[in-house]
Amino acid sequence: MLPPQNVLIVGGAGYIGSHVALTLLRQGIQTTIADNLSTSDEAVVATLRQFGANRLRFVKADMLSKRQLAELYSSTKPDVTIHLAGLKQVAESFAEPGRYHRTNVGGLANVLAAMDESGCRQMVFSSSASVYGNPEYLPMDEKHPTAPLSPYGESKLKCEGLLKQWASGGSGRRCAVLRYFNPVGCDPYLRMHRTHCPAAQPSLADTIAQVASGRLGQLEVFGSDYHTADGTCVRDFVHISDIAEAHLSALEMLSTMREEHAILNLGSGKGTTVLQLVAAFEATSGIAIPHRFRPRRQGDVPESWADISSARERMNWEPRYSREDICRAIRPVGSGEAISRLLPPLPPASVREQPAHL
Ligand SMILES: NC(=O)c1ccc[n+]([C@@H]2O[C@H](COP(=O)([O-])OP(=O)(O)OC[C@H]3O[C@@H](n4cnc5c(N)ncnc54)[C@H](O)[C@@H]3O)[C@@H](O)[C@H]2O)c1
Repeated sequence: MLPPQNVLIVGGAGYIGSHVALTLLRQGIQTTIADNLSTSDEAVVATLRQFGANRLRFVKADMLSKRQLAELYSSTKPDVTIHLAGLKQVAESFAEPGRYHRTNVGGLANVLAAMDESGCRQMVFSSSASVYGNPEYLPMDEKHPTAPLSPYGESKLKCEGLLKQWASGGSGRRCAVLRYFNPVGCDPYLRMHRTHCPAAQPSLADTIAQVASGRLGQLEVFGSDYHTADGTCVRDFVHISDIAEAHLSALEMLSTMREEHAILNLGSGKGTTVLQLVAAFEATSGIAIPHRFRPRRQGDVPESWADISSARERMNWEPRYSREDICRAIRPVGSGEAISRLLPPLPPASVREQPAHL
């Protein structure tokens, strides 16, 4: 089944959204990015235009404005919404829980109302492994109990509840909820855009890249006394391009699925400690990453990795990139050319797709 031909990505200028947009554009899909650019930069849109200027539209819009959403939906008339906009910093969510709920849950409610008004009946929603909280068993499947440890995780769980109610309201509504684990790396064509955005908080991978390029003296590793192989947290690191492709699979699934609502984990299905990722990066790049330990952070679970059988079965999706590929994709975020010269070449063209015009 072909994916829909007119897709709106709310929050599409961000880290995940820009990679999803790249994947859709490469498939020839008409793509509109709507974003208020609060944690992203319009420069990414210029980069994306290389992959199909006539298929890409950008609208600066805030999902907290019902008027802007109404205009967006009436001018775009999308078949499907991929909803990625929101706030995502766990630490910040403890300091500003009200803003997290207003933005993430209130913003989603506004988007759903605009969809209803315009007749858009399908949504792919970005949720998070943070809805699970402390693991009762590993790997975690979608039936694992949910008990978020942060206001951020709570806001995502509330969004999921709202979506379930919305989808069960009939009128052909369909929703795919994707629970991402730890997306890492970047497509080589998009790697520079995060450079332009000071508001984007660096991830572990970004910080490794900054240390590698000499912009940061050392990596801070939060917690060294967890009951894991080396005392550091275990996470499920998955290549961002695998995550992006899963959205294409989700669009295909939505067009054929019988039930109104599906929840799917997206990860690599493997656990890796923070220090193992650092060691893999060092081995791949030949660059030492000095680190120091800091106390555990509030809201961090000791271990987390995904059972991805549902995504495999339901969407025929499989992560393609290895841990070494992920390490090669940990590229400079604002570190200029220096690290590019030091790092080994990017994966061969057979692994990463070439843009249509090359
Ligand atoms: N990156 C991760 O590790 C991760 C993991 C799990 C879940 N998620 C979820 O995936 C989604 C995308 O994450 P990301 O890493 O791309 O984050 P990001 O911050 O890079 O992207 C979010 C985008 O939403 C936009 N935005 C924020 N508030 C908005 C508003 N009121 N109106 C319109 N646009 C708004 C931002 O400008 C940004 O472009 C988020 O919902 C996040 O919670 C991310």
